[in-house]
Amino acid sequence: MNGNIAKNKLLLEGVITGVRDLRNADYVVCVPYPYLGQAQSLLQGTNVAWGAQNLCATDDGALTGAVSSHMLVDFGCSYVIIGHSERRVQFHETDDTAATRFNAALKAGLTPIFCMGESKEERESDWTEYVVGRQLDSIIRRFGADLLAKAVLAYEPLWAVGTGKPATPEQAQEVHTFIRERIAKCDAAVAKNVRILYGGSVKPANASQLFAMPDVDGGLIGGASLKADEFVLICKAAN
Ligand code: PGA
Repeated sequence: MNGNIAKNKLLLEGVITGVRDLRNADYVVCVPYPYLGQAQSLLQGTNVAWGAQNLCATDDGALTGAVSSHMLVDFGCSYVIIGHSERRVQFHETDDTAATRFNAALKAGLTPIFCMGESKEERESDWTEYVVGRQLDSIIRRFGADLLAKAVLAYEPLWAVGTGKPATPEQAQEVHTFIRERIAKCDAAVAKNVRILYGGSVKPANASQLFAMPDVDGGLIGGASLKADEFVLICKAAN
C-alpha cells in the first residue's frame, strides 16, 4: 500500500530505463489495484511485466470491493502475488483461501507468485519446515504438484520481511532445498524447474550473495522496490 500516481511514474520510468538492457532474468512489478492501468500504460512494450498483489478467487459478480482474476487480465497482468504474509497475518487469509486464489489465478492464465514462510516464534521453536511444508502442501494436496510448474514460489520468512534483517544465504538455501525436495517427492521435473524466490529485506548489498545460492532463483522485493536505483541494482544482481 505504497505509491501515488506521480511517484509511481518516476519509479516505473526509473525501473524501465535501469533494466532496459538486462536480458538474463525476468522482471515484474506487482502494484496496488488502482495503479494497474498506470502500470499497463507505462510498461507495455518494455521488458518489465506487471501484476497485482492479490485477487478474489470468485469470478466476476456481486462481491463489493473484490477484484477478480479476469479484471487483472483485462489490465494486462501476467502475475499475481498469492498468500503474502501481510495478507495471511493482517487480513486473516488462510492456507485454504490462498490455495483457492492460486487456482483461480492459474485458471485465468496468470502466474501466481505463491508466498510461504514462518514467523520468528515458529523458527525459534524449530517449526520452519512444518509451517512451510503445510503451506506448500495446501497447493500440492489439493491440486497436485504439476500445477506448481506454472507458478513461482517465494520463501518469505516473516521475521525478515520489512525488518532489515534478511535470512543469511545459508538459511535461505536450507529452506529452498527443503521446498524443492518436498516437491520432488511428487514430481522431480517440476521440482527441478520451478523458480523459488527469496523475499525479506533483500537490498543491493545482500542480493548477490542470496542469488548466488543454488536454490535461490531470484527475489521478491518489498522496501527496496520503492526506490528505482535500489531496485535496479537488485535486478542487475539477478541478471
Ligand atoms: P522487504 O519486503 O523486502 O521490505 O522485506 C518483502 C515483501 O514484502 O515481500
